[in-house]
Order: sequence, then C-alpha cells, then structure tokens
Amino acid sequence: MELHWCYYSWFLLSSIFIKVAFCDPEGFLSLSCGGNTTYVDSSNITWTPDGAYISAGNMTTIDFLEGSSSSTLPVRFFPDSPRKKCYKIPVKNVSSLVLVRTQFVYKNYDGHNKPPAFSVSLGRAITTNVNLTHIDPWIEEFIWPVDKDILSLCFHSLQDGGFPVISSLELRPLPQEAYSNALGDFPNKLLRKCYRINCGYNWSLRYPIDQYDRIWDADEDFSPFHVSSGFDIQANFNMTVLKESPPVAVLQTGRVLARWNDMTYKFPIDHQGDYHIVLYFAGILPVSPSFDVLINGVIVRSNYTVNRWEVSSLFFTMKGIESLNITLKTVHYYPYINALEVYEILDIPLETSSTTVSALQVIQQSTGLDLDWEDDPCSPKSWEHIECEANLVTSLELFDVNLRSISPTFGDLLDLKSLDLHNTSLAGEIQNIGSLQHLKKLNLSFNQLTAFGSELEDLINLQIL
Ligand SMILES: *[C@@H]1O[C@H](CO)[C@@H](O)[C@H](O)[C@H]1NC(C)=O
Ligand SMILES: *[C@@H]1O[C@H](CO)[C@@H](O)[C@H](O)[C@H]1NC(C)=O
Ligand SMILES: *[C@@H]1O[C@H](CO)[C@@H](O)[C@H](O)[C@H]1NC(C)=O
Ligand SMILES: *[C@@H]1O[C@H](CO)[C@@H](O)[C@H](O)[C@H]1NC(C)=O
Ligand SMILES: *[C@@H]1O[C@H](CO)[C@@H](O)[C@H](O)[C@H]1NC(C)=O
Ligand SMILES: *[C@@H]1O[C@H](CO)[C@@H](O)[C@H](O)[C@H]1NC(C)=O
Ligand SMILES: *[C@@H]1O[C@H](CO)[C@@H](O)[C@H](O)[C@H]1NC(C)=O
Ligand SMILES: *[C@@H]1O[C@H](CO)[C@@H](O)[C@H](O)[C@H]1NC(C)=O
Ligand SMILES: *[C@@H]1O[C@H](CO)[C@@H](O)[C@H](O)[C@H]1NC(C)=O
Ligand SMILES: *[C@@H]1O[C@H](CO)[C@@H](O)[C@H](O)[C@H]1NC(C)=O
Ligand SMILES: *[C@@H]1O[C@H](CO)[C@@H](O)[C@H](O)[C@H]1NC(C)=O
Repeated sequence: MELHWCYYSWFLLSSIFIKVAFCDPEGFLSLSCGGNTTYVDSSNITWTPDGAYISAGNMTTIDFLEGSSSSTLPVRFFPDSPRKKCYKIPVKNVSSLVLVRTQFVYKNYDGHNKPPAFSVSLGRAITTNVNLTHIDPWIEEFIWPVDKDILSLCFHSLQDGGFPVISSLELRPLPQEAYSNALGDFPNKLLRKCYRINCGYNWSLRYPIDQYDRIWDADEDFSPFHVSSGFDIQANFNMTVLKESPPVAVLQTGRVLARWNDMTYKFPIDHQGDYHIVLYFAGILPVSPSFDVLINGVIVRSNYTVNRWEVSSLFFTMKGIESLNITLKTVHYYPYINALEVYEILDIPLETSSTTVSALQVIQQSTGLDLDWEDDPCSPKSWEHIECEANLVTSLELFDVNLRSISPTFGDLLDLKSLDLHNTSLAGEIQNIGSLQHLKKLNLSFNQLTAFGSELEDLINLQIL
C-alpha cells in the first residue's frame, strides 16, 4: 500500500527514481497548497506542490511574523465564482480509512483585512464552516471511511464570504479497524476531530512518534484541578488490544489525581451533535486503581479497573450533547488517564442512484453545455438546474437551450416532481415522460409542440401544464 500516493503523483513524470526518492514510506500525501517546490520538513515529512490535484484557484504567498521570526507560506485561494472548487485525490489503494487534515490561513495575505468564511465538503458531506475571523490559522481533521476511488475535498463560497483559501492538505492512512466503534456500527458516518489529548504531557506529539501522524496535544489547557504534574513511566505494553494503535509514548505519560477526589476534564464543543469519545488507560503505576467514569455527570462505566502493565481503552457515543465533561471518580486508589480523543460524528448523505446520475449526464451532453455537473447531483450541494429531496432528484430546470426532443433518458428521472423545459426548441409530440409518476409541474412553454401525446393521461398528479 505504501507507494500508491507516489504512483499517482509522480506517474506523469514516469520516473521510478523520483517516485521512490520523494515519497514517505507510510503512504502519506502532504500537499503544500499553492506551493511550487518540494521540501522535507523537520519531521522528515515530504511536502509537494498541490498542482497535480487541482487546477482552479490562484497561488500566492503569505509573509507573517510568528513569534520573533518571519515565515513565508504559500497558499491557494479561489476568487469569486459560484462554482465549487475541488481537490481530487486518488485514494483507492491507500487504505480503507484515511485521516484528512487541512489548514486554512488568511493572515491578511491580500492586504484587505477581511478574513474569509466558506464551507468545506469531503465527498458528499459538508463537514465544516470555516470563518477565519474567529481563528487564523484554522485546522480541521477528519477520519474518512474511503467509499470512493477519488477523495474530493471542495470549497463552497458563502455570500459575502470572500475567497476560500487553503495552505495545506494532508492524507494519512489509518489502521483499518481504528475507530470502528464509531464508524463500523453506523455506515455513512465520518468523524471530525475535536480533541486528541496526550494526558500528563506538556508538548504536542506527532510523526514519527505516531506512525500515523495524528497530532496529540498537551492537556494543560483542560487539565483538572488537583492533579499531579504528570507521570512518565517507561514500560513495554502489549499494544495489540488497541485497534486505534496510539503511540506507546502517548500511553507512557498520564495524569494522576493527587487527592481522593474527582478528576474532571471540561471540553468546550462548537455545537450540539453526536460525539464519539475514546479514553486510553495504561497501567503505568505499581497499583491497579478502580474508578467510575462519568460523562456530563452520568455514570457511563462503574468501577473500571486499570490493571498494572496493561493497556485498555473505553469508548462512548454521546448523542445530541452540547457540552462535554469527563469525570473519573475514585473507587479504589487514585484515578488516572493516559490519553483521550473526542470526535464529532457527521453524517455522509446517501448517494444518488446511478441510473439518475447517468441519465443526467446524458442530458448534460445533449445540451452541448458544460453545466459543471460533477460528482453527486444532490450532495454536498445540489447541482445547478436541479433540486433534490435527500438523495432524490425532484426538480430539473433547463431552458433557453436546444434540446429538440425529450429523449428517453428523461424517463429515468423517476423522482421528478417538477420539470421545466421552457424554450428548448421542442417540437412534435411530447414523449418519454409517461414513467414520471410523481410529476406535478411541467413547463413546456416557448416550444413548438404539436401534441400532448397519450402518455400524459396516465400522470394523475400532474397539475400545471
Ligand atoms: C513559484 O515560482 C515562481 C517562479 O519561479 C516564483 O516567482 C513564485 O514566487 C513561486 N511561488 C511560490 C508560491 O513559491
Ligand atoms: C530524518 O531522517 C534522517 C535521515 O533518515 C534522520 O537522521 C533524522 O533523525 C530524521 N529526523 C527525524 C525528526 O526523525
Ligand atoms: C487570479 O488569477 C487570474 C488568472 O491568472 C487573474 O486574472 C486574476 O486577476 C487573479 N485574481 C486575483 C484576485 O488575484
Ligand atoms: C488497486 O487495487 C486493485 C484491487 O483492489 C488492483 O486491481 C489494482 O491493480 C491496484 N492498483 C494499483 C495502482 O496498485
Ligand atoms: C465570520 O465571523 C464574523 C465574526 O463573528 C462575522 O461578523 C461574520 O459575519 C462571519 N462570516 C460569515 C460569512 O458567517
Ligand atoms: C515540559 O516539562 C518538562 C519536564 O517538567 C520540562 O523540562 C520542559 O521544559 C517542559 N516543556 C514545556 C514546553 O513546557
Ligand atoms: C498481545 O495480546 C494479544 C491478544 O490479547 C495476544 O494474542 C498476543 O500474544 C500478545 N502479545 C504478546 C507479545 O504478549
Ligand atoms: C459536568 O456536566 C454535568 C452535566 O452538564 C454538570 O451537571 C456537572 O456539574 C459538570 N461537572 C463539572 C465538574 O463541571
Ligand atoms: C471494584 O472492582 C474491584 C476489582 O474488580 C473489586 O475488587 C471491588 O470490590 C469493586 N468495588 C466496588 C465498590 O464495586
Ligand atoms: C429562448 O432562448 C434563446 C436562446 O437560446 C433566446 O435568444 C430567446 O430570447 C429565448 N426566448 C424566450 C422567450 O425566453
Ligand atoms: C413557464 O416558464 C415561463 C418562462 O420562465 C414562465 O413565463 C411561465 O409562467 C411558466 N409557466 C408556468 C405555468 O409556471
């Protein structure tokens, strides 16, 4: 699996040597958006320009001060246009689960002091609304179950939102079984990272310590009252029980409650939703403490014991919560925790039927126009000229084009309630829409139709002609 990113990115150069020489063996893809050089960063990760995966957008660089040193960062931005702009990245052979990390940076690159706001979709799901007035840079991370050969990450402009802008895009294959308690039970879900905390550690960790390059943050901002300064115990654990494969280094540190009391982590969350929580424990102390685990004041696991020199994890799915606190309450000895992750669970909308998609594509061709009809007709946003209810195409509006006749493919759009084909040079008899049993509205004005045809009589719902 390792070299497939490279295969795709460097195939056009058709040089085996470059392919191998420039690639991280782990199957990572790290794109420097708007960049035009390849470089290796201090973690030994190779960054490449993004040009092979997107053609839209303008490139520029941002110069900004970070502490006392000035940095230059390339970015790609997407000047005004109602059409979505997408990265298309082949993922078929990479893994069945990938981590997608994006960084959006404004830092006043255009000198207008107007941070943009825009929405971002991954495949069929709108995943996030970025507003760089609030946080700049803005980093998002998703865990995406690969359900297509191509990952499409798209930007959607918002009204008066300014130009979408991105500085980096990273893809990291994850172990196939990881997070399956959140994803496996529910098809059509993806995870958006809220917190990934290495408890009891004061600095952030990532690759190469985490071979999957997840970023583990320090817990100081959330660390509860009455805790010890953190423990760091070198021990060998049998990690095979943890499907998420967190790095051993993360489990060797922990937060231990210093008094006979409760230890509570409080996590602000953006908005009400369903959240997946994973707690990691490792028996780093020469005792086996027992404690109750409470989420938002409710016991979700009672008298949980962490066995000496063993690792374990607990996971919970909390539905419809709008705040989050996690409490460990003493039963025997002092409770402690080594790491935790919090994800928002997002829905991936259902796919539109392939019959509908191919019918629409044939119709697009027959117009002779580029209507920008790509990917799924209904999600993340419905195509221009159509409207959807969930994954059903219920309205189609084409006008002022030259169709000449209603081709049989229209008869495949079985969910249509409204069809507007005014001024499309239709002539003769209306045909091929007898199968559209849900049709309520049909507009064929400004055409040279001569007969209604017998099939319309069967459309009992049809109201407007
Ligand atoms: C890309 O290369 C051109 C010409 O070599 C240079 O002028 C430009 O500044 C570069 N852009 C970035 C983002 O590095
Ligand atoms: C990066 O790779 C070089 C050579 O393989 C190695 O010497 C160095 O320690 C690595 N750096 C990190 C941060 O892993
Ligand atoms: C983006 O690039 C196009 C083509 O190079 C150029 O015409 C346009 O002025 C640029 N837009 C901005 C906002 O820089
Ligand atoms: C990807 O996997 C498929 C089977 O799932 C295989 O047929 C194909 O050759 C692989 N492609 C590459 C580039 O390895
Ligand atoms: C972004 O946030 C700012 C400050 O809260 C707000 O004024 C602005 O309307 C937001 N932009 C959008 C497009 O929502
Ligand atoms: C983290 O803690 C260690 C040990 O207490 C200390 O040496 C180090 O300076 C701390 N690092 C930061 C970034 O606070
Ligand atoms: C680790 O645990 C697994 C399953 O519990 C077991 O099959 C395996 O033998 C253990 N490995 C070692 C080195 O103890
Ligand atoms: C945790 O949340 C619950 C429910 O929202 C609340 O009743 C409780 O006071 C919170 N605990 C702490 C320590 O903040
Ligand atoms: C908690 O679990 C431990 C070990 O499983 C057991 O010895 C102890 O009696 C339990 N305590 C309570 C209060 O249930
Ligand atoms: C019909 O479409 C043509 C262009 O295809 C346009 O010139 C004409 O004005 C349209 N007629 C009406 C009545 O909208
Ligand atoms: C059909 O479309 C034309 C052109 O937009 C419009 O003038 C007419 O009112 C529509 N007819 C109905 C019944 O909606």
